[in-house]
Amino acid sequence: MSKVIGVLTGGGDCPGLNPAIRGVVMRGLDHGFTFVGFQDGWKGIIEGITRPLGLTDVEDIVKLGGTMLRTSRTNPFKREGGVQKVLENFKKFNLHALIAMGGEDTLGVATKLFSEHKVNVVGVPKTMDNDLSATDFTFGFDTSVTVAVDAAERLKDTAKSHSRVMVLEVMGRHAGWVALYTGIASAADWILIPEEKPNLEKMCQHLKTVHARKGMGLVVASEGVNLGTEGQSDAKDDFGHTILKGRAVGESLASIIEKKTGLETRSAVIGHIQRGGSPTLFDRILGLRTGVAAADLVAKGDFGKMVALRGNEVVPVPLKEATGTLKTVPAEWVKFAEVFSK
Ligand code: F6P
Repeated sequence: MSKVIGVLTGGGDCPGLNPAIRGVVMRGLDHGFTFVGFQDGWKGIIEGITRPLGLTDVEDIVKLGGTMLRTSRTNPFKREGGVQKVLENFKKFNLHALIAMGGEDTLGVATKLFSEHKVNVVGVPKTMDNDLSATDFTFGFDTSVTVAVDAAERLKDTAKSHSRVMVLEVMGRHAGWVALYTGIASAADWILIPEEKPNLEKMCQHLKTVHARKGMGLVVASEGVNLGTEGQSDAKDDFGHTILKGRAVGESLASIIEKKTGLETRSAVIGHIQRGGSPTLFDRILGLRTGVAAADLVAKGDFGKMVALRGNEVVPVPLKEATGTLKTVPAEWVKFAEVFSK
């Protein structure tokens, strides 16, 4: 009898999830598996919300943004009887294993299900934030930064016409990878990331210098930067994360810059536009590779692992290693970015 494998995608969506689902299914068929797609992340397996997942379902999804399985930020460990329901449904749907695609939260749940309840899980890393340890890159990052670079360049056009300073606020949560890559790749004049205490005086001085030289300025700021002036928002998701968009980092920065420099300044928040759209080539290939590797791990019975990109190889690593600490921007990268700040 063929082995039944459950698949779910949890947390914030990102481009590359559909290629990864396709990778799992196409390779799983080689191993003789059949699949159950759980909808809406962990909510789907708690509540038994499923959809078919076979060859015809994944035939033409490689180019699609979002996730065909839909997602949510549900944490079974925070829901009354949530874990019990997951275990019951695991049995009810006759699952041999579950492939969970997600970031630190979704994979954190997978880690606990494996270590505390011996559930056969394999993780596939995804997040536009690129903040997962144990893997060099996560799919979703390349596409979302590509979109943000395009936005930054558009802002530069209008900044130039009006002799303004523009501030672009990007996502990325508590890691500055998205802001850093966006800023470097769009030749921004200043980049603010959560890992570095902002030096607002120095930034404003620099903006005055560049504005005098080229008649405009561009600042790229991560939503997670701590200016000490952001609007306080206590709203939290199921995993206890503060919802950062309420802090209005970009808007606060624009008014600080205008006050301190006298330069007309506007801000824009790219927000969820960064999370949509067709995955880039890099994200398609990484999604497909990690999906295939996850199906192979299930076939080998190598559970409690996540597939990770190390150099140019996709390798298994213990889930625990991947979810223990956040991968933040190290000092070398800050130094590299400074080369372009003249
Ligand atoms: O983790 C991905 C991410 O896009 C973060 O960069 C951002 O802070 C958060 O999700 C936004 O979450 P939501 O989609 O729940 O508003």
